[in-house]
Amino acid sequence: MARPHLLHSPLSPAKVVFLVAILGTTLVASFFWASFSSVYIPISSNWVIGRPAHLLVPNSSSIPSPKREDAFAARKLGSEKSLPPTFADLPAPDLLWEKMPPAPVPRLDGASIVIDNLFYVFAGYGSLDYVHSHVDVYNFSSDTWVDRFDMPKDMAHSHLGVVTDGRYIYVVSGQYGPQCRSPTSRSFVLDTQTRTWKSLPPLPAARYSPCTQLWRGRLHAMGGGKENRHTPALEHWSIAVKDGEALEKEWRSEIPIPRGGPHRFGACVVVNDRLFSIGGQEGDFMAKPNSSIFKCSRRHEVVYADVYMLDEEMKWKTLPPMPKPDSHIECSWVVVNNSIVITGGTTEKHPVTKRMILVGEIFRFNLDTMTWTVIGKLPFRVKTTLTGFYNGWLYFTSGQRDRGPDNPQPRQVISELWRTKLSILM
Ligand SMILES: *[C@@H]1O[C@H](CO)[C@@H](O)[C@H](O)[C@H]1NC(C)=O
Ligand SMILES: *[C@@H]1O[C@H](CO)[C@@H](O)[C@H](O)[C@H]1NC(C)=O
Ligand SMILES: *[C@@H]1O[C@H](CO)[C@@H](O)[C@H](O)[C@H]1NC(C)=O
Ligand SMILES: *[C@@H]1O[C@H](CO)[C@@H](O)[C@H](O)[C@H]1NC(C)=O
Repeated sequence: MARPHLLHSPLSPAKVVFLVAILGTTLVASFFWASFSSVYIPISSNWVIGRPAHLLVPNSSSIPSPKREDAFAARKLGSEKSLPPTFADLPAPDLLWEKMPPAPVPRLDGASIVIDNLFYVFAGYGSLDYVHSHVDVYNFSSDTWVDRFDMPKDMAHSHLGVVTDGRYIYVVSGQYGPQCRSPTSRSFVLDTQTRTWKSLPPLPAARYSPCTQLWRGRLHAMGGGKENRHTPALEHWSIAVKDGEALEKEWRSEIPIPRGGPHRFGACVVVNDRLFSIGGQEGDFMAKPNSSIFKCSRRHEVVYADVYMLDEEMKWKTLPPMPKPDSHIECSWVVVNNSIVITGGTTEKHPVTKRMILVGEIFRFNLDTMTWTVIGKLPFRVKTTLTGFYNGWLYFTSGQRDRGPDNPQPRQVISELWRTKLSILM
């Protein structure tokens, strides 16, 4: 079964036959990874400044109302053959985007941290068979990529949990190696002033994309994917830390995250002394049984719009859900003017075609009113993008973008860096 993009690619017939044969045997994986085709078709021009942005604004009579609690209502439309691939896009204001110097490498499922005017961009897949083991650094003041340094050899390469206290960056667990390999429980801390790494006590069990935060003097890691990459984990652990040192020898158990609030790939945010867990999914690609290279194959996934909050009572409270289910947003958020701003992600698969659907909206959760709004759209839909905020500008880089304005399926893994002026009025 040939995929439409292959038919349009400038490939020789022999290559097409070869690729179709490969895809025939690994069709499931190809949903995810076809993006690593070496053929790059620049389509961002459809979206850049000055062009009408009708493409992300869906026909409002053909999509469910954005006021609905979540996009699951859209499933009711699943029987309509006419359901467009972009049905999940929500109406969103246009923003003016500026293309900045791209990152030195493309990366998917990497991680990022902003400290003052520096944007640290970690690890990630370069291709399905190659993972990065270094950090690139962007200087928001000079708007240039200024540095690159290695990560410890034993550190995971994707799906890391990361958090900073403003000087030290804590890196917890994650996937070790390419394809759909196993996670490692090894955890580290980087002193950004001396550029030295130290080990932390390993997590009690290895996790993919654990929700990782510093809260009340402790480093917390919770949820994520279990060792098989697919099964959602509910465990929640913490360890006391100070100035880049663990003050305890072991992690301790904490109140598990709520059932159905799995939050692998969700956003994990601490603001106003409260810990928020936003969106995320259950299930993911996992390694084919007995594959010597741990080849990825697609499995059932459910994406959530759920929002939970832990406060001083140490009980999870349910807050209003996101405007639609959203996952792959671990490092796609910033906090500005008492609002959490989230960029892109993935939402529920298309009800008819079952294709993965990327998200192009920018969401704002106003912590004063506890309400969600859609405040803009990205130049394209993109997942696991790495987002930073500096001096009034919202930046994003990396991740996997869509196939074009009318096709929200994932394709190219990008190194591009973009920015827009953000306006979040209190
Ligand atoms: C929107 O979709 C409806 C139903 O598919 C169709 O009747 C209508 O003409 C469309 N409107 C526009 C502006 O395309
Ligand atoms: C970042 O850029 C500013 C302005 O050019 C410069 O003063 C500063 O030293 C730079 N920092 C780094 C770490 O490159
Ligand atoms: C995997 O290998 C084991 C041992 O060689 C074998 O028993 C099993 O049937 C294999 N499973 C699959 C799905 O091939
Ligand atoms: C945050 O709020 C202040 C005060 O209302 C405003 O001056 C500033 O522009 C806002 N920042 C953003 C990014 O909107």
